[in-house]
Parts: sequence; structure tokens; C-alpha cells
Amino acid sequence: MQLPTLDIQKTHEALCQEIELHNYRYHVLDDPIISDAAYDQLFQKLLALEEQCPSLVTSSSPSQRIGGAVLEAFEPALHPTPMLSLENAFDAEQMWQFEKRLLERAEVTQFTYSCEPKFDGIAVSLIYENGQLMRGATRGDGETGENITANLKTVSSIPLRLQGQYPDWLEVRGEVYLSKAGFNTLNERAQQNQTKLFANPRNAAAGSLRQLDPKITAQRPLAMYCYGAFTQTSFGLPDSHYEILSLLQTWGFRISPVRQQVQGMAAVLAYYAGLLTARPALPYEIDGVVVKVDSTHLQTELGTISRAPRWAIAYKFPAEEAITYLEAVDFQVGRTGALTPVARLKPVNVGGVTVSNATLHNADEIERKGICIGDRVVVRRAGDVIPEVVRVLLDQRPPQAQPIQMPTRCPVCDSEVLKPEGEAVARCMGHLMCRAQRTEAIKHFVSRTAMDIEGFGAKLVEQLVEKQQLKCVSDIYGLQQEQLANLDRMGDKSAQNILAAIEKSKKTTLDRFLFALGIREVGQATAKQLSQYLGSIEAIASASEETLMTIPDIGPIVASHIKAFFHETHNQAAIAKLLQAGIHWPDPQSQQEKPLSGKTYVLTGTLAVLTREEAQQRLEALGAKVAGSVSAKTTAVIAGEKAGSKLEKAEKLQVPILDEAQFLALLSSF
Ligand code: IVH
Repeated sequence: MQLPTLDIQKTHEALCQEIELHNYRYHVLDDPIISDAAYDQLFQKLLALEEQCPSLVTSSSPSQRIGGAVLEAFEPALHPTPMLSLENAFDAEQMWQFEKRLLERAEVTQFTYSCEPKFDGIAVSLIYENGQLMRGATRGDGETGENITANLKTVSSIPLRLQGQYPDWLEVRGEVYLSKAGFNTLNERAQQNQTKLFANPRNAAAGSLRQLDPKITAQRPLAMYCYGAFTQTSFGLPDSHYEILSLLQTWGFRISPVRQQVQGMAAVLAYYAGLLTARPALPYEIDGVVVKVDSTHLQTELGTISRAPRWAIAYKFPAEEAITYLEAVDFQVGRTGALTPVARLKPVNVGGVTVSNATLHNADEIERKGICIGDRVVVRRAGDVIPEVVRVLLDQRPPQAQPIQMPTRCPVCDSEVLKPEGEAVARCMGHLMCRAQRTEAIKHFVSRTAMDIEGFGAKLVEQLVEKQQLKCVSDIYGLQQEQLANLDRMGDKSAQNILAAIEKSKKTTLDRFLFALGIREVGQATAKQLSQYLGSIEAIASASEETLMTIPDIGPIVASHIKAFFHETHNQAAIAKLLQAGIHWPDPQSQQEKPLSGKTYVLTGTLAVLTREEAQQRLEALGAKVAGSVSAKTTAVIAGEKAGSKLEKAEKLQVPILDEAQFLALLSSF
């Protein structure tokens, strides 16, 4: 064990600050300024430094985010101010009544309201003393919750230390939740590991926060939105809830970008209608709008009744569950051949939308839920757009209910259907022989995040596949004006536009192209990693599974899918044709357009965080040259401890000198 020198302490502090800054940029502002890989490198450095000098580990070091020791139980946590609940309203009339009650009690003619989403997660309280997160707790019964500090520290959008001019004592409240995407990822993981699936994002968030092992919580992609704060009165918070939330953001907290300050109830109702429409597109679940009197002195004046404030109300969205009959089940074949059972329902209104189809996910889910054709079922339209069958009303099962049979042959191409041992999904083995798989593969290829061929929509793909004019993605680049112009709802002009978009798509990037190929388990992030690490399609196609596994986030399963894809001769042929057609991209590893191209640095002395080699690699990766001696042309000298003659020469030539912390800041600014 090593005791840290003052310099190491400074470096450690600089590193902590830097990591937390990037954390804030990424998780709170949603505006990162460095790549994930660069962030990971900083984090690894911090861990290495703290391993070397364990006394550097403080309770607010970002290293705490990976989760500390396992607890035996959660301690009770008394709330300094009770955590209240909210009165609910279910229609506009109840909202007008709410305003009427307010007007009767306060000496004002109109109210300014703060309107916010009602996040569907778990309420938590965070207490900061002198800017340090001291305690995080659940709501519990409103008076006493559970101390879950260690778990909350793993939530990236919760600051461990505050920034700026903050009060000595601060309590912040908000909702910890799982995004829809995070929830799906968790359930996919659960399915792979054959563990229990979570019913909805809220349950998953609650379960994740109640883990005695914070390392488990750390693996759950939880996030937090803050919706309130308390502090010592002398700090002088603004007399506006809306502005208090803005202030919270400057201290490092995440607040909702869709909140609004409005005048009067009519504007509140308009906000509600707008959010109801925006709801399906939000990346997380909300179940209504919380409307608060904005002025904090009016809030105090209005006070609290029983367990809810008079000055706030939750205007809930209409229920998103409904009961109907399951009339039949069809099977849809996806891009990877996965057969998804789709429930054909007696049309029913679910939260304002008529639903006649819903997903049944897969055979295991059908079995788990015990669903039969003819059953009365509960249908849920979650924040996700695809409705699902949640459960069966067994006591209402009709005598003629029929079990659902999984097909043994593909309903589209009649190929064999196989369900590998231990997997939940049954797949058609027809691959690109199967029209459905081909259609989906082509839709994916042309889509916005892949080759981005504007105007090449699903209907167009379906028609062209139907007419056998598209048998493979490479056929796209051979399409002729007449072929397109003859299709439904397509004139000469639209055909020309599509041909122009096809031409334009030829100039792409390696990662988009890789993603477009639709290799199983290769999403956008993996495609980026592959292109950055291996640099060319040839290198990726010929990489061994061992090589692939050296790339971050690529494990044996992904590696085997990549290998299998490039091993297929028809995939090789398709890639060759696509390249022949003129698809091209810049070299992802080329020196061009790098932020430090044309700059020359000289390293001298001993660096504490990076080794000399690492420092050189990082600079070169950003396009800089690293030279052995200082000249007037040197951009800057990076001086570690015990720097000698090179430092003197730099001073003499007035070449800028960076210490290690400044150097790290430079690296991470890209
Ligand atoms: S304010 C005194 N704002 O709703 C006001 N609550 O039904 C207390 N919630 O326990 C809460 N989003 O967990 C507030 N924007 C928001 C909210 C919100 C979700 C939850 C919160 C509370 C529950 C009350």
C-alpha cells in the first residue's frame, strides 16, 4: 500500500472532478463531450489509482458508483419533512375544481403553475451536507423510509458532490425510474439467464433499489428526475418552484426537460393534452401530470390537508388497461426469423386508442400466463407503443377455449421452426429464403439509423419483395426508374427522388454499413466498436472469435454471431455486390479530421495517472504527434513529476507547459 503524495492527491481530485463532469454532461445534460471509451479509460485510471492508494477512496469518489459492500439489511431513515402523497384528478372538471379551491384560499386572481410529468418510478429523498451526498432513502410510509444510500450512489444521474453555490444543507426529492429501453434490456437479460421477468419498469426499478448488494443495483440502468427541494431558509431559494428546479440542475441534478411554467388552468389542460400525445414517444413511463402552484410562499400559505398538499395535484392519464376477448393468434416472422405470436383481439379502447392486436411475446410467455384462444384477457398499452396481453381472467374462461399451438413450420415460407434448448424464441430456419425475413432485413437496411435511404419506406420494400424485384439488399442498388415508377402511389418524380436517395446512401460510414447488414446482436453501439477497433470490413470479416472478444462489450455470443454471419457464402456475396455497387466510407481509423491533427507534444517527467506509453497512445489516437525533443514548433510540453531539461527548454522557447491534470482535462475535452 502506498500513501498518496500531495501530487497524487491532486491528480486523484482532478480525475474525480473530471469523471463527475462527464457524468453530469452525459447523464444530466444528455450532452456528452467525450466518447464512452475515453470515459471508461478515465474510470479505470481512477480505480487503479485508488487500488494503489486506498486512502484516496472517499464516499463521494466516482468509484463508489460501481457499488460497495453487501448490506445485511436497510436501516430505517427518518424524513426531516414528511414525504407527502398527491391528490388525484381524473378529468378536466376535477382540475377546474382544484383551481376554484385555490382561488378561494389565496388572495390572487390567477395562478402560475409548474406542470411536470408524473414519473412512474420510486420516490426517493437525497440529503446533502456541505455538498456531499450523505443519505439517500425511500419514501416508506412518508415518515420513515429505508436508507438505501449505497444503492442510490450507483445511479449515474445522482450527484455524489454538488457543483456551484449550493446550500450547506439540502434535501432533494425525486423519482428513480428505469427507462423503457432499460426495462427491455433487463428483461432480455432475465430471459437469457432464465430468471424471473419484471412485470413493468416501475417494479423493476423498485426491485433494483431494494437489493442488499449495491453491485447488482449498479448493473441496473436506473436514472432519476428531481422534482423538489428543501433547504435551510437562510439560503433564500427563489419564490418559484420552476426556478428552484432550474437551480437544482446547476448543482448537478437531472430535471425534466418537458416541464413548463404556465398561467391558469386552461394552459394546464393544454399542457396535459400535449403530454398525453407525447407520452408514447417519451423514453420512460409517466402516468399523468403533476400540477403545482409555482410560488413557494403561496404553497406555504395554502398548506397541507391530511397527507397531501393543497397546492399540488396529480392529473392522471386515462387507464391503459382494458379487458377483451382473444379471438385468434397469428405468428409474425421477424428479421432474425423469430416467431412472435400476435394476439388478434376483439377491438377494445385502451386509454383512448383502439387496440385489436397485441403481442404475446413468445411461447414461454404464453405458457407462463396460461393463455388460450377464446379467453377474456387484460390488454395493456404500456408507454411502449406495442400493446401486450398481460393476463387471463381464468374465472371467465369459456368452455371452448383452445390452447395456442406454436407452429412447427414457418407460416410464411414453410421452413422448419426450431426453438433452441434454453432459448425463449422459436425461429424460422429459412433465413433469407424466407420472404418475411428478407423483407424485414431490407427494411432494416434502408432504415434511418442504418443506410438511411430517404423515402424507402416499409410499403415500398414490401411491394418490391412481393414482385421479386428485391431478393437481396444488394438489389437495391440495381433498381431502375421504371421498376419504381410502376409501383402503387409512385410517380416519376418520387421514383427519381428515391433513386437519388439510394445514390446518396452509397457514401456512408463503416459502422452504419455493419449495422445495416443486420448481424444478430450487432446493434449500433457494437457496430461502432467493431469499426473503430478493427477499421475495415475485411478485418472484421476475417477476425477470429478470440480477436472479436478483445473488443469491449463483445462476448462469446456476439462474437459467434459475427463469425457465423461472415462465414455464410451468401452474405459474403451480398457484401461484395454492395461494395461493387459503390458503397464506400472513410477509414474510421484515419488521421484525418482528428481533433489534434497537426499538433506536436513532448512528454517529460513521470506521470501519475497514465504511463508514458498510454499518454502517447491517447495523443496519437487524437491525431497528435509525440516528439522526443522540444522545439519552437512544439504545441505543448506535458510535464509530470521530476521533469528535467525538456521543461527548461520549453520555458526558454516559451512553449506552453501542461501539468498532468491539465493534460487529462485536454484529453477528455474531446
Ligand atoms: S411532487 C408534495 N412531482 O407521485 C408533492 N411527485 O402520488 C410530492 N411523483 O410520492 C410529490 N412525479 O413519488 C411530485 N413531478 C412529480 C412527480 C411526483 C412522480 C410521485 C412521487 C409521489 C407520488 C404522489
